[in-house]
Amino acid sequence: MCGIMGYTGSKEAKYIIIKGLSALEYRGYDSAGIGIYNSDEDKVNICKCIGKVKNLKEKAEKLNLTGTCGIGHTRWATHGGVTDENAHPHKFGRVTITHNGIIENYEELASEFGIEDELKSQTDTEVACAVFAHYYDKYTDPMKAIYKAVKCFRGTFAFTIIFDDIPGKIYAVRNVSPIVAAKTEHGTMLASDLTAISLYAREYLVLGEYQILVLSPDDIELFDIKGNPLVTEYQKIDWDTEAATKKGFPFFMEKEISEQPEALKNTLEPRIKDGLPDFTYDEIPDEFFKSFDKIFITACGTAMHSGQVGKGLIEKLAKVPVETEIASEFIYDEPIIDSRTLVVSVSQSGETIDTLTAVKKASELGAKTLGIVNVHGTSIARASDHVVYTNAGPEIAVASTKAYTVQVAVFYLLAAKLALVRGLMSEEECREFIKTLQSMPSAIRKVINDKDEVHRISTKIVEAKNVFMLGRGLDYYAILEGSLKLKEVSYIHSEALPAGEIKHGTIALISDETPVILSITQEKLAAKEISNAKEVKSRGAIVLILMKDGIELENESQWDKVYRLPAAPDEFMIFTVTVALQFIAYFTALDLGLDVDKPRNLAKVVTVE
Ligand code: F6R
Repeated sequence: MCGIMGYTGSKEAKYIIIKGLSALEYRGYDSAGIGIYNSDEDKVNICKCIGKVKNLKEKAEKLNLTGTCGIGHTRWATHGGVTDENAHPHKFGRVTITHNGIIENYEELASEFGIEDELKSQTDTEVACAVFAHYYDKYTDPMKAIYKAVKCFRGTFAFTIIFDDIPGKIYAVRNVSPIVAAKTEHGTMLASDLTAISLYAREYLVLGEYQILVLSPDDIELFDIKGNPLVTEYQKIDWDTEAATKKGFPFFMEKEISEQPEALKNTLEPRIKDGLPDFTYDEIPDEFFKSFDKIFITACGTAMHSGQVGKGLIEKLAKVPVETEIASEFIYDEPIIDSRTLVVSVSQSGETIDTLTAVKKASELGAKTLGIVNVHGTSIARASDHVVYTNAGPEIAVASTKAYTVQVAVFYLLAAKLALVRGLMSEEECREFIKTLQSMPSAIRKVINDKDEVHRISTKIVEAKNVFMLGRGLDYYAILEGSLKLKEVSYIHSEALPAGEIKHGTIALISDETPVILSITQEKLAAKEISNAKEVKSRGAIVLILMKDGIELENESQWDKVYRLPAAPDEFMIFTVTVALQFIAYFTALDLGLDVDKPRNLAKVVTVE
């Protein structure tokens, strides 16, 4: 959730770190800070403040923060309010640290180490810093101090550490929360995600759990927690720096919605061979798809919504029973899982702690695990037996758009593959299915070209306090996601309901101030849904309809707005309706003058339970 950036080399660290922190701001952003080692004074100078990185930049300009080695942080408050004191870095004795994650036993540690009266903040991080300082004073050996301190911590962490008397070196250690590092022409750096590093390097290494990373100006060394050296392995960054810029769009969200045709192609094409689904690209053999009788899909938020689409499709095409369970529930439930169960986890970031914990639990219970992940080398990918990487490229806007669409696309490939290997679909039927799937990028393109028309729907909801969304079948899954999107970026309360359910209570809330959006794309359910539209219309609702082209709708002018989606077979309509719903959310937030890419209270990567 928070962002970490560190640099040591021959350039002014302040500028490099602040630039990296700006790139990481989307992860969490209620305060920011930097600590730079100054060789003349032989100490680390700290500058931190609440608010955006630009506040930090202004403050840092006025201070003497010269030096070529330093660490920085953007904070999303967990322990302790949003104050300058609680921002990172924290310093205790000769040690300065930044921290992502949560140290659950920090209160016990504060009392055990007798430092309660010396603390300047309310954070778990300052306590952790004191523990590092205690062991550094005791052993004057950074590796031993890290080892000893880490043994005291209960919780999750990614720490970057600099010691006052070890100039030019940055240490890092992690459990769950990610750290990546890279060499550049003028030094070395580390960060909590690739977005910051990709500004400077094309290759990176991932710090493993309970490994220690040591950055010097010209080298990166890796050790296990006891200080034994490990081999460093670098991976290529598979997207260019341009991919993480707005490319002329006012917001990343609009850019990312518009990138969906490309993202879909990039995800689908490597996995289609001779017109059929093929997972050799992911090194998954065909036998794997016959090795289970039941599937569990687990994820959070938007990623879970893609899983719900996957459930419907897999059960329909491949007749394999699928259960879906939100990861934070899955980990405390008692799911019936064994070696004939496949647990599919879905995650854009690959770092969501609930999803990661669910994968670990599934493995412990003996299940096979498959991750559908966007970011390479991340914790969920590493914890899974197999990974299907969605090739959406970096997603910067907090609200997920293109990552969702490609997750859905992977489920289409999986469903077709399962149906094929289990003999429930002929090769010919499968080829037809895949051909339609391959036509989705151009169907989506039509909606993107039509965005001004979709924008008109937003103008009807911009003043609303509550919005309801109704759908049946696949449309219900689409509006679950559309409704979440609207809530998170526009702050308008929105509720998605199976259209038939509205009469069983919620219709009491419908009045002439309530916009109701109906997604009507499933031919066999259309008549029933149109009846539901009439029910809410007769209670005064502002009725807005997203409808598959070709479905008959009498007296179209009676509705407040009807937007026609390009026609495709019913089971493929999810793609275009999703894009229309994403635009509705986006334009509503835009018209309300909100910071669309960084909705309040939200962070892109959720690494706390
Ligand atoms: C909403 C959104 C979140 C994420 C959820 C899981 O737009 O982005 O609901 O989908 O936090 O995140 P990942 O996919 O990174 O595991």
